[in-house]
Amino acid sequence: MVRSIVLSYKHAFHAGNHADVIKHLCWIGVIDYLKNKNKPFTVFDTHAGAGCYSLNDEQVQKNKEYQSGFDPLANVTPQSQLLQRYIETLVPYWQVQQYAGSPLIGASALRDQDSGHFMELHPSEAQTLAQVIKDTHARGAHVHHRDGLEGLRALTPPKPNRGAVLIDPPYERYDEYKEIETAISGLYKRWNNAQVVLWYPLLSDRAGVKAGASEKLIEGLKDTAKTAFIAELHVACARDDTGMYGSGVMVLNPPWQLDVRMDEALKEVCTILQGQSHHRISWVKTEESQ
Ligand SMILES: C[S@@+](CC[C@H](N)C(=O)[O-])C[C@H]1O[C@@H](n2cnc3c(N)ncnc32)[C@H](O)[C@@H]1O
Repeated sequence: MVRSIVLSYKHAFHAGNHADVIKHLCWIGVIDYLKNKNKPFTVFDTHAGAGCYSLNDEQVQKNKEYQSGFDPLANVTPQSQLLQRYIETLVPYWQVQQYAGSPLIGASALRDQDSGHFMELHPSEAQTLAQVIKDTHARGAHVHHRDGLEGLRALTPPKPNRGAVLIDPPYERYDEYKEIETAISGLYKRWNNAQVVLWYPLLSDRAGVKAGASEKLIEGLKDTAKTAFIAELHVACARDDTGMYGSGVMVLNPPWQLDVRMDEALKEVCTILQGQSHHRISWVKTEESQ
């Protein structure tokens, strides 16, 4: 069922920015871990976007957000293994003036035995996404023009039940925060070993009612999975007038040592981005806290 909600968010305006950096680093870390074993897995991307963004696109060029995200990272030789994996995944697209979105990263990582479900509600974004994913020739990749949370409910748990979910909503509507919390709580009742990466914005008081909503969402979700940590990349001071001063990922049932790999990678990212950027990693649920 396609809900009648207004969709004005276009990811092209933000392609390759600092939020994509932390989110895609983490998503690659999760998928790499799934690929360590020769057993099939399924990935779900509930808010997939258009899949690939040309740097020459007018919308991408509007604010050139990639200039303070992927651009300074593209030519470095990183020390940290996860940052290296992120850069080597994105560079082939970058060399042809493109930034790859999460569904293209996900679909390109699938082996013949794996599956991926990429969901997008915006009609023209879904149409572009379908072509982008078709061009990967990934056998198990499926594009759905549908509500991602409804799709997640309908398609999980997968068989076999190894896999991960990326949830990357635009958070345009305040209600989305509650809808995400309900969707993830419901997911764990059906699929208790799911690995989930949830992206969230860090918003100052200028965001009005949305300021503090991400923190409330994390609090509401912290007991849903067996374990969970958050990783954040702050790119500005959290003063009242900054708006979005960074973003984070909440990783539920994270793979072994992903916190350590993210810590190493983000430390290096902050050195490269310079300015006011800093990061933090914090466990919100450990085996001991159960
Ligand atoms: C932040 S963008 C996704 C970016 C993408 N995950 C990436 O990292 O490349 C959010 C996308 O969610 C889509 N969207 C909004 N509401 C949705 C819904 N209920 N179900 C599926 N997609 C939705 C928007 O049209 C937009 O393309």
